[in-house]
Amino acid sequence: MTTETQATAAASGAGATARFRENKHFAATTSQERVSALAGRVIKAVNDVVLDEKVSYDEYNAFKAWLIRVGEDGEWPLFLDVWVEHSVEEVANSSRHGSKGSIEGPYYVPDAPSLELPATLPMRDDEPGTPLLFQGQVRNVAGAPVAGALIELWHADDLGFYSQFAPGIPEWNLRGSITADEQGNFQINTIQPAPYQIPTDGACGALIAAAGWHAWRPAHLHLKVSAPGHQLITTQLYFEGDEHVADDIASAVKPELVLAPTPRAGGQGREVTYDFVLDPED
Ligand code: DHB
Ligand code: FE
Repeated sequence: MTTETQATAAASGAGATARFRENKHFAATTSQERVSALAGRVIKAVNDVVLDEKVSYDEYNAFKAWLIRVGEDGEWPLFLDVWVEHSVEEVANSSRHGSKGSIEGPYYVPDAPSLELPATLPMRDDEPGTPLLFQGQVRNVAGAPVAGALIELWHADDLGFYSQFAPGIPEWNLRGSITADEQGNFQINTIQPAPYQIPTDGACGALIAAAGWHAWRPAHLHLKVSAPGHQLITTQLYFEGDEHVADDIASAVKPELVLAPTPRAGGQGREVTYDFVLDPED
């Protein structure tokens, strides 16, 4: 790995922690009973592993040192979003009838620039990667178009890096807010992202290496789609043929979320149509 890549990976963790703190996603209202029940179960689960696996003092101390390092490296958002968020998403979206959701991950930034249709995500003049036209329609569960739905799209570049988390990338690169037309239709030009390796030079990478796992997520588009009177959906879309679709370190792929782009008719690159279905607000 090059020095530049290492610096980038470390910066991503610290950036994700700073961003999470700014966003203050905390519910201050969790009852004492609920805290006691949840914390008690987590503590019991850890104790059960220690007893079942006969964990030694050496192993316990290695675990303690590693937990300390996760915090020092700013990698709690990465750790949780890779290994835990998929279950939280499953619970949160279990009663939806519309499009499938997926994890948000650590690299969402609100208020990306608004783009006119047909939209082109902000990108560098020489942005590497295969051009991709991503288009479709936003509908409700009854099949009617949702006029003026807001589509927020963000994704990694062709090297797997996210703007605002890896250094040297323009602020809003490959991030945009797009309003669908009166028929719920949208057309967005971007580049196809590359498979993404979670930072390997910090505590999460140390765990992956020590366990003999791999660090890859399949290439993905991140999306939030919302409209008044409808539930916001946070999701990801993947690409057929990507070797990590069946083996995502973050367990966040669902078959309904895998795209199959085709060569773009009369143009460069590829195109794909994906329609979103929004559930009504509760
Ligand atoms: C992580 C990165 C992602 O791009 C993502 O979608 C999920 C998790 C991570 O590094 O933790
Ligand atoms: Fe991602």
